[in-house]
Amino acid sequence: MKKEKLTARKADINSLYEESVQCPEFEVGFIKKLFKKYYKSRCRSLREDFCASALISAEWVLDNKDNTSLSVDLDRKMIDAAKKTASEKLQNEQRSRMKIRYGDSSKYKGDIVDCILATNFSYFVFKDRQKLIKYFSNAYNQLKKKGLFMLDAFGGYEAHQLLEERTKHKNFTYVWDQSSFNPITHEIQCYIHFEFPDKTKKNKAFSYNWRLWTLPEIQECLREAGFRYVDIYMQGWDDEKDEETEKFYKVTKCDADPAWVAYLVARK
Ligand SMILES: C[S@@+](CC[C@H](N)C(=O)[O-])C[C@H]1O[C@@H](n2cnc3c(N)ncnc32)[C@H](O)[C@@H]1O
Repeated sequence: MKKEKLTARKADINSLYEESVQCPEFEVGFIKKLFKKYYKSRCRSLREDFCASALISAEWVLDNKDNTSLSVDLDRKMIDAAKKTASEKLQNEQRSRMKIRYGDSSKYKGDIVDCILATNFSYFVFKDRQKLIKYFSNAYNQLKKKGLFMLDAFGGYEAHQLLEERTKHKNFTYVWDQSSFNPITHEIQCYIHFEFPDKTKKNKAFSYNWRLWTLPEIQECLREAGFRYVDIYMQGWDDEKDEETEKFYKVTKCDADPAWVAYLVARK
């Protein structure tokens, strides 16, 4: 039987988001590798801040029977969706090692963990230094002495441009829309739209009103929150394929690329 084409009416935006921007296997592998590199031991407990559908946490408990996770998000609908996804993806024993909680990541207190992760630039939602440092201080307090706080960031001169970037997937097109940018405050308004083969659209399926923090500012705020060491890992580039690689490299100096993605890795 011929499979029906995806349309805006039929599409589930959370599934499209996951397919477009998430790769939980990568994050789980990266956490394991870095933890081993810094502490010569295994990372067992993960806290996923701004977890949305908590895919990384689900992958984390799947990866090893000794792994536990805590996922935090401030959107009750997302929390319900995360619980549903977890119950579909995981067996009872795996699900029992995963806590999914409604809360503000800058205040939420839970188990003290080996690693705290904040992905897809979610902490950019904190637009002034005090709020950002408050979030980082909470992460500091929720982390073990031998712990890793890992967060991603993006930048480069294209990040200051108004643009729409289209990526084709099998059944839909993902559109990243940098709709406005204010150089005075670094406030940036971005949207994710989805387009379908029948020309229907899910316009503004996701909306992000952020401050585009720079790497020096983020590092300063991490230090003010108490972190003693901060390393920067820049995403690699494949010249032949003209696209990013899946590898991140620890660097202290790099090219002024038009668009880059980095991970900051902070330790006590
Ligand atoms: C850009 S999405 C990131 C989702 C996921 N971490 C990822 O990597 O794709 C941002 C998420 O952060 C949540 N959020 C926004 N402010 C928050 C806060 N103060 N505390 C916890 N979650 C928050 C939103 O509800 C949303 O699910």
